[in-house]
Amino acid sequence: MNKVVITGSNGLLGQSLVSLLLKEKEKYQVFGLSRGINRSGRNDFSYISIDLTDERSLKKELQEIQPHVIINTAAMTLVDVCEDQKKACDVLNVSVVKWLSEVSEELKAHVIHLSTDFVFDGLKGVYKETDSTNPISYYGMSKLKSEEVLLKSKIDFTILRTILVYGKVFDMSRSNIVLWVKQMLEEGKEMTIVEDQYRMPTFVEDLAMACKISMDKKATGIYHISSNELLSVYQIAQQVAEVFQLDKSLIKPISSATLNQRAQRPPKTGFDVSKTNKELGFYPKSFKEDLYRFKATMS
Ligand SMILES: NC(=O)c1ccc[n+]([C@@H]2O[C@H](COP(=O)([O-])OP(=O)(O)OC[C@H]3O[C@@H](n4cnc5c(N)ncnc54)[C@H](OP(=O)(O)O)[C@@H]3O)[C@@H](O)[C@H]2O)c1
Repeated sequence: MNKVVITGSNGLLGQSLVSLLLKEKEKYQVFGLSRGINRSGRNDFSYISIDLTDERSLKKELQEIQPHVIINTAAMTLVDVCEDQKKACDVLNVSVVKWLSEVSEELKAHVIHLSTDFVFDGLKGVYKETDSTNPISYYGMSKLKSEEVLLKSKIDFTILRTILVYGKVFDMSRSNIVLWVKQMLEEGKEMTIVEDQYRMPTFVEDLAMACKISMDKKATGIYHISSNELLSVYQIAQQVAEVFQLDKSLIKPISSATLNQRAQRPPKTGFDVSKTNKELGFYPKSFKEDLYRFKATMS
């Protein structure tokens, strides 16, 4: 039986992973480590309420559990908040990864860590795992530092970089691009969306599956996980309207310059997923196909 720790089990990816692994209870014993009460909607796994930034508690819990695999989904993910709270961002996004790698070296555990397209500057677009990184935000910088922690470590690790993740969370405590656009249009509200930033959004169930495949195959190194078609954020919003049969004339295009956001965003990211296809046997689909799958899970 594989003992699997999921940090951030209350989050978007954390919840999806808990559900996925609990489908094979004979294979995985799941431990969720997250802040506050268990908000995953499942109570058939071991939940430990913890502040991951407390090094002693974190190491003590892990030494008691003795996990074979740690999937680290917890992070400070709000890009503007990271810009304003650099110290707190460093602790959660970098120091916690260092502590996880230290315990994993002792326990010989495999760490699966989530990273982001924001490690790139977005000037080129459609990046390979081997392309040069150059983050332009504090968030991107912190995630790159977390990758470096693992690359320098002696442990077995997988880094899964991903883009604009969407899906459903049990208590609807957090939103994402698809839920936000859907809700605004359902309420008949006009919305402005940037037309000069390009992304390949990722359905959370696919990302959870990529984590599971990486664990089962004991894949090591960096992999890119996203859908397979580059779209502007404006096009993404329009496709949400089409799939959920909402009024797309309410979506108005704007340029990023008019937004005046605290942190810079890379203009054009997107991933070349050929290494992921070949080595993980994972073949992402188009955003629209994924949206229809997501819609089916909503009813
Ligand atoms: N979402 C995206 O669009 C996106 C894009 C690229 C990369 N990623 C990466 O993918 C990973 C998963 O993202 P996600 O969207 O699933 O994140 P998320 O929904 O924000 O989930 C993170 C979880 O970690 C928990 N957490 C945060 N700080 C904690 C602490 N000090 N102690 C214990 N728990 C703590 C949060 O608790 P609360 O619920 O109490 O806040 C939350 O449940 C992250 O590493 C992120 O950087 C995400």
